[in-house]
Amino acid sequence: MERHKQAIKLLFIVIVLAGIVISIGYSSRRKPGTATNRLSFAPTAARLERGRYIVEGLAHCFQCHSEVDWQNPGAQPKQGRKAGGTIFVEAGMQWLVAPNISPDVETGAGSWTDEQLARAIREGIGHDGRRLFPMMPYMNFRQMSDEDLASVIVYVRSIAPVRNVLPKTVLPDVVKGSLPPHEPITAAVAGPDMSDPIARGKYLVTLGNCMMCHTPMKQGQPITQLAFGGGLKFTGPWGEVNSANITPDASGISYYDEALFVKTLRTGQVGARKLSSIMPWGYFRNMTDDDLKAIFAYLRTVTPVQHRVDNTEVATACPVCGGRHGYGDKNHHDKNATDDE
Ligand code: HEC
Ligand code: HEC
Repeated sequence: MERHKQAIKLLFIVIVLAGIVISIGYSSRRKPGTATNRLSFAPTAARLERGRYIVEGLAHCFQCHSEVDWQNPGAQPKQGRKAGGTIFVEAGMQWLVAPNISPDVETGAGSWTDEQLARAIREGIGHDGRRLFPMMPYMNFRQMSDEDLASVIVYVRSIAPVRNVLPKTVLPDVVKGSLPPHEPITAAVAGPDMSDPIARGKYLVTLGNCMMCHTPMKQGQPITQLAFGGGLKFTGPWGEVNSANITPDASGISYYDEALFVKTLRTGQVGARKLSSIMPWGYFRNMTDDDLKAIFAYLRTVTPVQHRVDNTEVATACPVCGGRHGYGDKNHHDKNATDDE
């Protein structure tokens, strides 16, 4: 009798397994080449918490994906607008729309699959199959571990839906040809060794998009020799400001110690000097001391760049980055490795 029961149990398991295999086969056949339902992330409490930590802190998703109150320090979303999307008119890019990614079914991401969200975040393919403009930091988020990605998606799905109809991005012709090519992620992405502060810091700096804002650009491309060297200009409702040199050079933040760094990212103030709200300190402040210290440890290892940028001074032409910023005229082209251009 006992053996009979066992056999029935086994048969049951086989049927369930076959069902899973068939349904996976079915869903991957259904829409060849497009995102399917194959990926789906279970909303565990641990993912919800980790997701909130990344989205509301390090990755500052809602500084871009919401109408933001720039007048108040910390650049938080306006009341009831969190994740509801925005048009980048005030930043002079009226063609660019950060979409509504709140769970509203009609106007947001409520009907998108986990796989569609995953592909948008790490590969830069929108839910409609469109190649996304890389201001959406998918080139950095490629490094996001599978578990962090699952957590981000679980959290974004948990917030209040915002009803907000927005147009779609219309890329200017000059931009169209310069989008990074789509490279699908086909292997598992593991996170860093969290016990190694420098590896951990590098991962955090990547997801926090520090390099994207802190490296000057030439014809829309970052000048890699000046990585983290500052000078990129941001003009908008937060005012006009250039990013700072955060390399360990004397013209950068060599004078910082760990305590000053943590305090700066928590308060948005360097001593009495207040930082512009475009620097996402209102989000970074939510990070743990250990993570902020790991970021500092990693920044200490990047190549020092000699490049003075001072937002308290009148903007002058800078021969090093080619832009205009405070103390631009105090820089000399021969001081960095850029002179072999
Ligand atoms: C620096 C600004 C910025 C940050 C930070 C940012 N995004 Fe985006 N995101 C954008 C813009 C702009 C677009 C639209 C690009 C386009 O239309 O070509 C976009 C597009 C998307 C899309 C694609 C929507 C679709 O149509 O399928 C998703 C999903 C998304 N972002 C989620 C996130 C999440 C989650 C985070 C944080 C982990 C995040 N974004 C952080 C600016 C940003
Ligand atoms: C959206 C663009 C943006 C991002 C992302 C960003 N920053 Fe900044 N950051 C700025 C700008 C602009 C300033 C200059 C603000 C000012 O002087 O008012 C700045 C200033 C700073 C300063 C102050 C330097 C000083 O003493 O003047 C530090 C430190 C800093 N950023 C670190 C970071 C780190 C670390 C990250 C990533 C975790 C990061 N930033 C991400 C734009 C950004």
